[in-house]
Amino acid sequence: MTPIKLAILISGEGSNLQAIIDAIANGLPATITAVISSHDKAYGLTRAEKAKIPTYVLPKHYDDSLLLSYLHQAQPDLIVLAGFMKILTPAVIHAFNDCIINVHPSLLPQYKGLDTHKRVLAAGDPEHGTTFHWVTAELDAGPIIFQRRFAITEDDDENSLKQKVKDIEHTYYPKIIEAFASKNLFFGEKLEKNVK
Ligand code: GRF
Repeated sequence: MTPIKLAILISGEGSNLQAIIDAIANGLPATITAVISSHDKAYGLTRAEKAKIPTYVLPKHYDDSLLLSYLHQAQPDLIVLAGFMKILTPAVIHAFNDCIINVHPSLLPQYKGLDTHKRVLAAGDPEHGTTFHWVTAELDAGPIIFQRRFAITEDDDENSLKQKVKDIEHTYYPKIIEAFASKNLFFGEKLEKNVK
């Protein structure tokens, strides 16, 4: 299978980026042609440099033309948002229509936006989870690819929820990329139910 090219957008720790780097080392048919960070101190940049992946940093207030120039250089088949804390404009989304995916740490459509773990706890919800979705111009509202939920226990706090969510994300982001690479996943579709 020809490896697909990924551009991965981050803002922070980059643990999802690391999971994808590790999966590629273990045979995921993809190559990361750019890691683009909205934050110059993001630890994900260090992870990318260690893996010899070209990195790009966006200034706090950037023009679409800058992000688009980085993306055009990377020529991605798929743009992977992994903890990217900026909102993509419709211009950027339309330039790469149908090939941008995101992971959002809540059971969408519940808890769009920020501070999801805190809000779930404050509401006393019995369960939490994470959602992979296609990116459209409407924030956190594109078609859902895959969702995984778990029960919240009495011992859970923001940190434990964050970790439980990330553990799921690290398992499934590579599987979703693999499905896209093998042409088993197209814009608007869900990940097959039989993916474990
Ligand atoms: C993930 O939990 C993701 O759902 C959210 O931000 C977190 C990013 O974590 N959007 P990391 O930077 O990949 O460690």
